[in-house]
Amino acid sequence: MNHSDSERISSSLEKQGYKPASKIDEAGLIVVNMCSIRQSAVDRVYGLAFNLKKLKPGVKTILTGCILNKDKNKFLKNFNFVLDINDFLKTENYLRIRPKYSNNFSALVPISDGCNNFCSYCVVPFTRGPLVCRDHEEILKEIENIIKKGFKEIWLLGQNVNDYVSPSDANINFAKLLKLTDDLSENIWIRFTSPHPQYFSNELIEVIARSKNITPYLNLPVQSGDDKILKKMKRPYSVSDYKRLVKKIRNKIPSIVLSTDVIVGFPGETKQEFQNTVKLFEEIKFDMAYISKYSPRSGTSAEKMQDNVSQEEKDKRREILTEILRKTALASNKKYIGKIIDVLIMKHKEGVLMGKSRDYKTVKFQGTENQIGKLVKVEIIDALSWGLKGKSSTEK
Ligand code: 5AD
Ligand code: SF4
Repeated sequence: MNHSDSERISSSLEKQGYKPASKIDEAGLIVVNMCSIRQSAVDRVYGLAFNLKKLKPGVKTILTGCILNKDKNKFLKNFNFVLDINDFLKTENYLRIRPKYSNNFSALVPISDGCNNFCSYCVVPFTRGPLVCRDHEEILKEIENIIKKGFKEIWLLGQNVNDYVSPSDANINFAKLLKLTDDLSENIWIRFTSPHPQYFSNELIEVIARSKNITPYLNLPVQSGDDKILKKMKRPYSVSDYKRLVKKIRNKIPSIVLSTDVIVGFPGETKQEFQNTVKLFEEIKFDMAYISKYSPRSGTSAEKMQDNVSQEEKDKRREILTEILRKTALASNKKYIGKIIDVLIMKHKEGVLMGKSRDYKTVKFQGTENQIGKLVKVEIIDALSWGLKGKSSTEK
């Protein structure tokens, strides 16, 4: 979502006559688009602000993105202006701004912004405000244009994508929007993030299962494997609801690759409660997981709970889950050895290309920079926990 915001910021600035600088020390204006989801992200901006001081005098700096009120005044010492993302782009309807896509193969399309859920640890409803959905006709128009331009993949984005309802037609929910998107093309990879388990309907599972273009990859944030902690997090499902949902999804879409988000060391999380998350990890066998150490956020309801799990213990818990993930991801990745799969090449570094398979596995193999953005066939020769290693490639 933040990358998509940056693309909209770029296009808004270019419309006002600015041109991109090739290096940071050639810029006359620097816009930093920050995220406040965890304290570590905020700390990185402090580090960056320190480096900005070393730039030539007269450079104007703007801090925007998701900024907590308590941080705004502090950052005013380091930046000329500090503005919420919605204020920064106030001149236009934020979601209507045509972005300047940062490449010509992977397009980020926000379908909604904000969230009404108020999970007790989360700052999003405060920094981005309540859920605002973009009209489905406008989304589909943008996507048609993306398809015409020959993009290879589209990401539909929202803090809680499956809470989507079109403002002009209450019948168009997220499942219907996905179906309409799927109908627009014969050959594009459609991805989305992030869904909430609570709103993951049977209709949505059916649409994904029957689609031509929706890729079999799902990030389904569980946050904890313990019912008491889920309640304290204000996540409105139980561990068995989550497991039932995963079973249903795997039944209908057997090739699904599953990742999750989880928080360790939530206030009051006992060793036993954490053990339930361990059990869930062992049972579900995720392909990937974003494991965060709990970080108290100002204004959230969890901020009032005592952050009583030590950093050391949080590190330990994160390592335990990472260790399980290493094994389950490796076992899943081994199944790809010997297969030839389609890979969309995203990056190049020192002779090695990094791309993503249709089901969002990371694939590395040797190649040249001019292949970035191409869809190629890659033979998988080895599997690691972080992804797959491939050999030779042919452009599709
Ligand atoms: N502390 C730690 N992790 C958090 N996340 C959100 N808020 C916090 C917090 N206060 C994690 C959740 C979410 C992901 C985007 O960031 O796991 O799914
Ligand atoms: Fe935050 Fe996601 Fe919960 Fe919304 S659903 S409050 S964005 S964690």
